[in-house]
Amino acid sequence: MLHQPGDFLTGMIIMKRRTFLVGAGVAAATGAGIHWLTRGPDYDSVAANLWSHRSSASGAGFADLVHYATLAANSHNAQPWHFQQTHAGVVIAPDFSRSLPVADADNHHLYASLGCAAENLMLAARATGRSSELTFDPAGAGRVQVTTGRAGAARDALFDAIPDRQCTRSDYDGRALGAMDRMLLQRAARVDGCELLLIEDRARVEQVLELILAATTIQVSDPAFVAELRSWLRFNARAAAERGDGLYVACSGNPTLPTWLGSILFGAFFKPAAENERYARQVRSSAGLAVFVSERDDPAHWVEAGRSYQRFALQATALGIRHAHLNQPLEIAPIRRQLGALLGVGDRRVDLMVRYGHAAPMPRSLRRPVSDVIIAA
Ligand SMILES: Cc1cc2nc3c(=O)[nH]c(=O)nc-3n(C[C@H](O)[C@H](O)[C@H](O)COP(=O)(O)O)c2cc1C
Repeated sequence: MLHQPGDFLTGMIIMKRRTFLVGAGVAAATGAGIHWLTRGPDYDSVAANLWSHRSSASGAGFADLVHYATLAANSHNAQPWHFQQTHAGVVIAPDFSRSLPVADADNHHLYASLGCAAENLMLAARATGRSSELTFDPAGAGRVQVTTGRAGAARDALFDAIPDRQCTRSDYDGRALGAMDRMLLQRAARVDGCELLLIEDRARVEQVLELILAATTIQVSDPAFVAELRSWLRFNARAAAERGDGLYVACSGNPTLPTWLGSILFGAFFKPAAENERYARQVRSSAGLAVFVSERDDPAHWVEAGRSYQRFALQATALGIRHAHLNQPLEIAPIRRQLGALLGVGDRRVDLMVRYGHAAPMPRSLRRPVSDVIIAA
């Protein structure tokens, strides 16, 4: 999915050189002067406080477990989840009011996002002396039940990496991974019913890139897709902090703007050619592509694919490896099938795809307060 507003602002900056009218707006928007217009709460301190371990981790209560769960990756940062404490553990229920009907019509990403949250929650439970086990309840409108029991505390590197993980949507430095890193990523991503493919052969990467570009062209040309994405973009720190959700443009390296201006310029400059040029550059700057494939195409397996990806992301973080999603070809069924055929996965569903490599960190995303996502037992 095209989660990054991409180069529409860069396009705008190029336009500045051509058009005085737009240029004037851009100069204001990209210069230092814009920040007084868009400054809200201190974004950096809100983010730093959010992306931290909870000091009570030694005996973490329910709210702390939920804190860790909400730091999981999730599609459009829509955070489509509710958490409920039960006698046996925790139920993670889908919040369909936060689904993405255009980009994620079958709710695949929604369930994968629940899997990401479940994995973080289970790691946190284990780190604080509880065993945990996940079951998926299709009858309960697709609820994920994490059962926790007593066990010795088992804090591992994946848990430690939770506050450092991010999706890094920038150009990478082209460096390859070492064999040991590849092995550790494979091992971390191991989850029943799900396989991880690492693609580093450049000719094969180019073949996959072609499908990424074809899917990007279709999505960027679809007004419904663009409108949905725009509704989740947060064009400045104030909007991002007030909502605590969505895609803050600075996380993708774009300058911040007043919401009204960002929204207009996004519509004008979010175009297939610019998006494709950026995706091609970013894929070619990456060490490889990680593809998550599950045995069966149903919500229970989408949850497992989310868990597998989240574990990969945390292990990558622990190793200093960055990653960013490239799911566009998986969101258009015929292109997803083409990708499956290219990768030789038979009838299995290709669930998620990310690029990985090395790069500096980007600004962090935000989350809604834990109290907003807990529902009464
Ligand atoms: C199931 C799923 C699908 C996603 N698809 C995309 C995508 O296609 N493009 C993208 O840039 N990010 C994608 N993301 C990443 C989210 O946008 C990201 O997790 C969210 O904005 C929060 O940012 P963070 O992970 O850096 O905290 C996806 C994440 C998940 C879990």
